[in-house]
Amino acid sequence: MQTKLWTVDNYVDNANSYPQLEEAAHLLQQNQVVAFPTETVYGLGANARDNEAVKKIFEAKGRPSDNPLIVHIASKEQLASIIDEIPGMTHTLMDQFWPGPLTLIFKKKEGALSDAVTAGLETVAVRMPSHPLALKLIEKSGLPIAAPSANTSGKPSPTTAGHVYKDLNGKIAGIVDGGPTGVGVESTVLDCTGPIPVILRPGGVTKEQIEEVIGPVSLDTALSDEKQAPRSPGMKYTHYAPRAELSLVSGSREFIQSLVNAKKAEGFRVGVLTTEENQRYYDADYVLSAGRREQLESVASGLYFTLRQFDDLDVELIFSEVFPVEGIGQAIMNRLSKAAGGRLIQE
Ligand code: TXA
Ligand code: MG
Repeated sequence: MQTKLWTVDNYVDNANSYPQLEEAAHLLQQNQVVAFPTETVYGLGANARDNEAVKKIFEAKGRPSDNPLIVHIASKEQLASIIDEIPGMTHTLMDQFWPGPLTLIFKKKEGALSDAVTAGLETVAVRMPSHPLALKLIEKSGLPIAAPSANTSGKPSPTTAGHVYKDLNGKIAGIVDGGPTGVGVESTVLDCTGPIPVILRPGGVTKEQIEEVIGPVSLDTALSDEKQAPRSPGMKYTHYAPRAELSLVSGSREFIQSLVNAKKAEGFRVGVLTTEENQRYYDADYVLSAGRREQLESVASGLYFTLRQFDDLDVELIFSEVFPVEGIGQAIMNRLSKAAGGRLIQE
């Protein structure tokens, strides 16, 4: 399959963008699969109502079929067409965080969506992205759009169209290139179907931000206990891993440097994943910064880009600094731990 590339100005009122988005929306209506930017990561979209369309997403990504997809909408009217009931609390959350990186779990409306989207669950995950191109594309298609991150399953999520191209060229109908995404980690998945809201996946909207609006929420206990089955099926899979073996290191720069020295002495090519503040202090084969430690949003924004950069280098082992597990740091550490397969070295 020839994958089309549309380079589109993020300023969607630019008339030049219209024919390109029209074409992408048209392909979605024909049940083809199209990648597009969101404010978190690039998504791989298809008509959420059609089984064949949704199956193409799973095929292109090599995604296990028991892992349900998030349905993306552009308006609250669209929400009414896919779920029956909007619990009171979710109104408040939608008013505060939509459009934006918060995914809400609802009981689904019978027959409104392809069963492949929800992987047989009674519930459906929905979000309204805030990226202008995502909103425009969904609106033009007139469809609820199922969209996981647009990477090959297991790889770091794509934050540029180039990442999508590298993973999926030839396997999908097209890619809308709207430049790099901003938030850099995926949306927060929040389950409000029970008495106490539970964060199933930490993400772009922080626990603290949610609690400011609706009071205490809990974190799925499986996020901190490997032995429990997570309630968000996707969280059980290995994810985001670079090719080289990644280990997280909780300790001083001197300690991290000593680990690098020991592995270099054994003949390994070694990388360090760090921040702008610390970059110049390390001596390794490759020292890459994900962002500024003083501004964790920048680390979230650069994290997947940096993990993918290591894949382009002939590095065998990577040691990464750790981050405080608060605010957006919760999502950063969740993704880094998964990328490291749980490997953590303590000083
Ligand atoms: O930021 C994002 O959310 C991106 C962009 C493209 O919107 N999308 C994304 O989708 O990260 P994906 O498929 O990579 O991750 C969806 C997560 C998975 O962990 C999945 O198991 C969970 O949401 N999920 C989907 N439906 C669910 C449901 N009904 N109940 C519990 N978890 C669900
Ligand atoms: Mg994903």
